[in-house]
Amino acid sequence: MPIPWSIEKYEEITSTQDIIKGMAGIGVPEGKVVQAQIQTQGRGRFGRTWVSPPGNLYFSFLLNPPCGVQELGQLSLLVAVALARVLRACMKVPDDLMLKWPNDILIAGKKCAGILIETDIGPDQALRWVAVGIGVNVEHAPRDENASSLRDYSFLKDISRDRLLEDFLSEFEALYRMWINEGFSAIKQEWLSYAHKKDTTVKVRVGLQLEQGLFHSINDDGSLLLRDADHRLKTITAGEVYL
Ligand code: BTN
Repeated sequence: MPIPWSIEKYEEITSTQDIIKGMAGIGVPEGKVVQAQIQTQGRGRFGRTWVSPPGNLYFSFLLNPPCGVQELGQLSLLVAVALARVLRACMKVPDDLMLKWPNDILIAGKKCAGILIETDIGPDQALRWVAVGIGVNVEHAPRDENASSLRDYSFLKDISRDRLLEDFLSEFEALYRMWINEGFSAIKQEWLSYAHKKDTTVKVRVGLQLEQGLFHSINDDGSLLLRDADHRLKTITAGEVYL
């Protein structure tokens, strides 16, 4: 069954993520998409602000994936691969795009897009819903941050945000089907093909600790595999990687 996408567009709202979570709470099903031209309280991971002026793409969508909490790491990389496909298709040099674990999108080494995944987990540990929020710097990158915008790296004169959203939903759906029917293996390979190269030094923030290691790969559950100073492989399931 295809995902019944239904897009609701707003001129200005606090955060597409907050609106979609409110909808999930009252039983709105998989496929609902909320898009905004401006967000006044856009949020990123770790409670950071996501600066959201007009000209960029901001949207959130709802899923009821047939999986458990353990598979969320895979889902988050799947979303990044779908977004990478769409952005690469508009870029002069597609290989300028790089994925940073777990789900940041960099262009020329600077962040161009971010993904925020929030869930509701029942007392039985079942996933009730997953809200995926995506922000893409299309026209503007926040000035004081290490950020890039698609505009500076695209061959397109006019970048249509509606088109980017439609293309994303269709790439996402194809990958989502593939994941459900065939598993994570091909998606993992594609993620790795866009990711930092093996043995690049990466710094990982796990909680309050900063750990450094060499990027080795990702595991089958989507977690990160780092080689530490003693040449031991270490799995990181939550955190953030800085190149
Ligand atoms: C990150 O990299 O920290 C994640 C950024 C996610 C930003 C998007 S913009 C659309 C949606 N609404 C929000 O408030 N946040 C996400």
